[in-house]
Amino acid sequence: MLSEKSRPVIEATLPLVGSRLGAITPNFYGRMFAAHPELLDGLFSRANQNNGEQQKALAGSIAGFASALMANPDMVPETMLSRIAHKHTALGITEDQYQIVYKYLFEAIAEELADVITAEIAEAWTEVYWLMADALIKIEKGLYAQQANNKMWMPWTVVEKMPAGTDSMTFVLVPADDTPVTAARPGQFVSVKVALPDGLLQVRQYSLSADAESTTRRVFTTKRDDGGEVSPVLHNNVKVGDVVELSNPYGDVTLDGEGPVVFATAGIGCTPSASALRALATAGEDREVLVLHAEKNLEAWALREQMTTDVDAIGSATLQLWLEEPTEGFHKGFMSLEGLDLPANASMYVCGPLPFMKAIRNQAIDAGIPSTKIHYEVFGPDVWLAGADN
Ligand SMILES: Cc1cc2nc3c(=O)[nH]c(=O)nc-3n(C[C@H](O)[C@H](O)[C@H](O)COP(=O)(O)OP(=O)(O)OC[C@H]3O[C@@H](n4cnc5c(N)ncnc54)[C@H](O)[C@@H]3O)c2cc1C
Ligand code: HEM
Repeated sequence: MLSEKSRPVIEATLPLVGSRLGAITPNFYGRMFAAHPELLDGLFSRANQNNGEQQKALAGSIAGFASALMANPDMVPETMLSRIAHKHTALGITEDQYQIVYKYLFEAIAEELADVITAEIAEAWTEVYWLMADALIKIEKGLYAQQANNKMWMPWTVVEKMPAGTDSMTFVLVPADDTPVTAARPGQFVSVKVALPDGLLQVRQYSLSADAESTTRRVFTTKRDDGGEVSPVLHNNVKVGDVVELSNPYGDVTLDGEGPVVFATAGIGCTPSASALRALATAGEDREVLVLHAEKNLEAWALREQMTTDVDAIGSATLQLWLEEPTEGFHKGFMSLEGLDLPANASMYVCGPLPFMKAIRNQAIDAGIPSTKIHYEVFGPDVWLAGADN
């Protein structure tokens, strides 16, 4: 809970701090990486630093957290913290690292706000930082404790590598040592760590695309991003027989509960719903399931065979497809929920590019699905949740 003393200070300085976050975050990262270059080797994404997405997500989350405290001083914004905590734990963030971030963030704040900062302002924002940090540390401890082991990275052997559609590849891996394996929930992801051609270690997250609950194999499907760092290495360099390092599974967008389900996905965003669909098919569920998927063309659909097989296996499931390249028998162009008979009281899982997710979420709300039942996964830093997507 934010103290009575700090509340008016934060309220008065939030617009100013918010307007300077764009300068504070690069200053912070610059300082932190200068002092701790090891954080760029196997922890922070070099691409997200270069394209600015991580800066936006961090700045947005701090401003969002402070605004939420103003609106509701006794509560913390759970959804935002949960998302960050799952990402952090998938990267092995530890409690002591919060001191490092604190030090360089507040040095950056002192420099960027030098014209206005007072001891009182610095203290109030320090309180906000530690409220957020302590809340994250608590959730992260809980998430680590749920795992079947206390390791961060485990060696897994690639046993299959199969093309999936025109631009993607499915990898099947089995444990390369005897570390106990956590059964994941459908919708969860693992972090994958690889060495780039220049030797730098980089980590990315991949949703499990099938058999999430298995403790003997991991399956994920990656789309090649030719401008990217890790996916080309996975596609071009990693071979059957190689050992790669995987994290335990994390992620809070999971298939839970009962009742009708709508999956609305675009492109490679089909991976988490494909594993949920596989789980429903395997369990012989008779929940009403509506699978909505958008692609460039049929050939690009990475998990076409798996998903159509599973839709067929679930008697109560139906599939509708939108293809950008007009194809007979399918909807043409971008996905639209208009005119669809969405099951009442459905839980909806959305995954794809941000503009797609925003459009579908708005349409779903217009169609009567409560916003609390619409869950989405962003395949990158979540600048949407942080309100930093403009
Ligand atoms: C929870 C979660 C689940 C995910 N699940 C999947 C999945 O199932 N399948 C899947 O394929 N992906 C998934 N992703 C995405 C995946 O983690 C990677 O982001 C993706 O594979 C691209 O990684 P990369 O290293 O190839 O590209 P990166 O190196 O991360 O580059 C990303 C983009 O940034 C651009 N970029 C790089 N440097 C700059 C610069 N200097 N200026 C401007 N732009 C720049 C690149 O051109 C590229 O397009 C998931 C992500 C998350 C967070
Ligand atoms: C209160 C303190 C912190 C806040 C508010 C915060 C916030 C965030 C946010 C919003 C994201 C993006 C999540 C997403 O993918 O949507 C993130 C990711 C990340 N955080 Fe933190 N974080 C904090 C502390 C830390 C600490 C102590 C470390 C360790 C040095 C750390 C390392 C990372 C890394 C490595 C990522 C992923 C970055 C990437 O891949 O580009 N964070 N954090």
